Formats: sequence, structure tokens, C-alpha cells
Amino acid sequence: MHFSALLLAPVLAAFAAAAPNFPRVISSSHGTIKQPTAETAVTSGASIPFSYQDSNWCEGGYSPITVWLLDYAPTTANLNSTGQFSDATYYFGAFLVGNFGLGPIGNPVPPATLTMPDMSAFVSGSDMYLAVVETANNCPPGNQPLQYGMTSTQLITA
Ligand SMILES: *[C@@H]1O[C@H](CO)[C@@H](O)[C@H](O)[C@H]1NC(C)=O
Repeated sequence: MHFSALLLAPVLAAFAAAAPNFPRVISSSHGTIKQPTAETAVTSGASIPFSYQDSNWCEGGYSPITVWLLDYAPTTANLNSTGQFSDATYYFGAFLVGNFGLGPIGNPVPPATLTMPDMSAFVSGSDMYLAVVETANNCPPGNQPLQYGMTSTQLITA
């Protein structure tokens, strides 16, 4: 065995042991929440418009997104190992944005409206945040870990 390989062996073994806890890969890229616009007033059960322009920074055929309601201003540091929020107020679901004119497959396309959950636990005037996590699953050169990007917009309970 080559000298440097001998030195590396324990390091590689330690790395392999840690592999199951491979950290999530966060991207600073993200799409744009076009609707709802910032500071939209929301109430329990209200239907609000939803429109998200994906970034598709790794140019995949489909961009998986998840949509969340939070009671704090989220950052990517709040995403857990699977690119989800462990502490969301509400989860609207997982949707699939078709790129390059591709039609629906698998998960539904993003809905045009979202229905707010029961928000009676929050006093009027509370800041809430609608967050979209976009997953890039086609990053070069291939067989790369999933990358998660996130953006949010502020809502206000009426
Ligand atoms: C990540 O968040 C999701 C959604 O809240 C949750 O179901 C999952 O258990 C969390 N994973 C970890 C490792 O905390």
C-alpha cells in the first residue's frame, strides 16, 4: 500500500461510517413565489392564490416542490436532512412542476389556490410565512445528491 493511502485509510473508514448522515445539500438558488404577494391577509379556511415560478437550476425535466406554512421567517438552516421543515404549522403538500413543456406525471401539478388551515391559535396580525422548497434532482455531472432551495413570502393573519 502506498504511504499516503495508508494514512488516508482510517479517514476514509470514518467518512464511510458517517455516510448515512450525509448532510442535506442546500442551494442558494430558488424560484419565485408570484402569488400570494407579500403581506397577504389570511384567515382560517381562506382560499388564497398560489403561483410559483421554479428556478430549475440543474435543468431537470421536473422540479419537485413542497409548500409549507410557518409561524417564523424560515431560512435554509431550518430544513432537515430530507429538505423538509420539522416544525411547520401546516404542510400543503408535494407537487411537481413540469419544465420544457413536459406534462403532468406522478405528484400533482401545483394548485392555483391553497386553502389555509385552522389558524385560530394565532392572534390577529401575526406574521406567518408561506415557504416553497424546490428540489434539484438533475445536477451535473450525474448521480449527485439532491439539492434543496427555499424561498418564502410573508402573510398576515387577519
Ligand atoms: C423532516 O421533516 C419531515 C416533515 O416535517 C418529517 O416528517 C421528518 O421526520 C423530518 N426528518 C427528520 C430527520 O427530522
